[in-house]
Amino acid sequence: MSIKINEKFVSGFIGADELKNIQPAADIAYDKLMSGSGAGNDFLGWRDLPECYDKEELVRIKAAAERIKKNADVLVVIGIGGSYLGARAAIEFIKSPLYNNLKKDTPDVYFAGNNISTTALTELLSICEGRDVCINVISKSGTTTEPAIAFRVFKKLLTDKYGVEGARERIFVTTDKCRGTLKQFSDEARYETFVVPDDVGGRYSVLTAVGLLPIACAGIDVDEMLRGARDARSEYTASSALENNAAVKYAALRNLLLGKGKSTEILVGYDPYLLMLNEWWKQLYGESEGKDNKGIFPASVIFSTDLHSLGQYIQDGQRNLFETVIDVKDQGAEFLIPHDPANVDGLNFISGKALDSVNSTAMLATLIAHNDGGVPNIVLEIADKSAYSFGQLVYFFEFACAISGYILGVNPFDQPGVEAYKKNMFALLGKPGYENMKAALEERIGK
Ligand code: PA5
Repeated sequence: MSIKINEKFVSGFIGADELKNIQPAADIAYDKLMSGSGAGNDFLGWRDLPECYDKEELVRIKAAAERIKKNADVLVVIGIGGSYLGARAAIEFIKSPLYNNLKKDTPDVYFAGNNISTTALTELLSICEGRDVCINVISKSGTTTEPAIAFRVFKKLLTDKYGVEGARERIFVTTDKCRGTLKQFSDEARYETFVVPDDVGGRYSVLTAVGLLPIACAGIDVDEMLRGARDARSEYTASSALENNAAVKYAALRNLLLGKGKSTEILVGYDPYLLMLNEWWKQLYGESEGKDNKGIFPASVIFSTDLHSLGQYIQDGQRNLFETVIDVKDQGAEFLIPHDPANVDGLNFISGKALDSVNSTAMLATLIAHNDGGVPNIVLEIADKSAYSFGQLVYFFEFACAISGYILGVNPFDQPGVEAYKKNMFALLGKPGYENMKAALEERIGK
């Protein structure tokens, strides 16, 4: 099944003529993307990845995953932003957010180097004690502070535990093909390396070794994931007509809603396994569109959990919101609500019902309530939580993001704003070369 847009809960906010009127802008955006004539056109490698992926690299990824599965109780994946979110989203979506706690014949997968937390690092080190560990350090630039610190720590742990030779068998590096210092260092140390292609930016990289190696280590069928992405590519690259292209339509709808003052989009999932997909999506859309004083602010919730926290705001707060709901049709399992003779909670009217049908009813009830509260809802229907569907969804969101960014009038492939905090941090930490900036900042903060 292809991804479908159910427009029932957005159509009351957007007229048919408005959709017709945005088609020319969508056509221009689509042409820019397909012809490579738009801003950021040196970062379009993701567009054809599922079709043109380096077969030899894929074979090496699978072979490395088999070795990791054999040799490790724990795989520590070190990376930040686009260098970790996609893999984590895939493992939680396809396997489980409780993957590490499940009985399985694949290693636990933990993520490090995506924060600067003493607690997170020391706790993970203690989890690794007495267990066999492999690491996959992922950094396109090779110089990002957070993963670089974690890499230092885990490289030392492996070297102390297994010796230089033993550690070499357990360190896998995913980085730039030839430019970065991490590549040079890894070649000298003779670590096995995988490539982040030059023309694929971090947040568009989950279908490269960045995502594929950790995902394969968790026992997920990466061929199925790539097949889903490949089918989505065939579908979305065929035509820019809104009625035939769900990705272009999603991009058009969100830009129309922005034009009506709906400047915050909330991605909604009705199951905790969608939480990290939300995080991946937020980075994709936030970094791609939030620039030049433009953009839709990407937020996310998991319902029904967050109906008991953010639900109040969404129903009644500032009316600058719209929601995009991911409706997963088949959960692949059924759980029936038990009967309780005492009926203390008064819920016997749903005993014997499938829990999922109650969840679906909660979704329907919420869609109606939020519509009544003035919140448009775009519903994206996907078949199930398989690797294939995940691949489809990744390509859908990537393609729509590029189109949406071009309709908005930004370069969807750069992230100049990310540098601001880094420069300040380096200056305040005393990095050589930043002396003047350090003095200026310290004067500003009265130090
Ligand atoms: O999307 C992006 O480009 C960023 O989020 C990067 O993925 C993130 O900053 C990590 O960069 P790197 O892979 O160079 O360590």
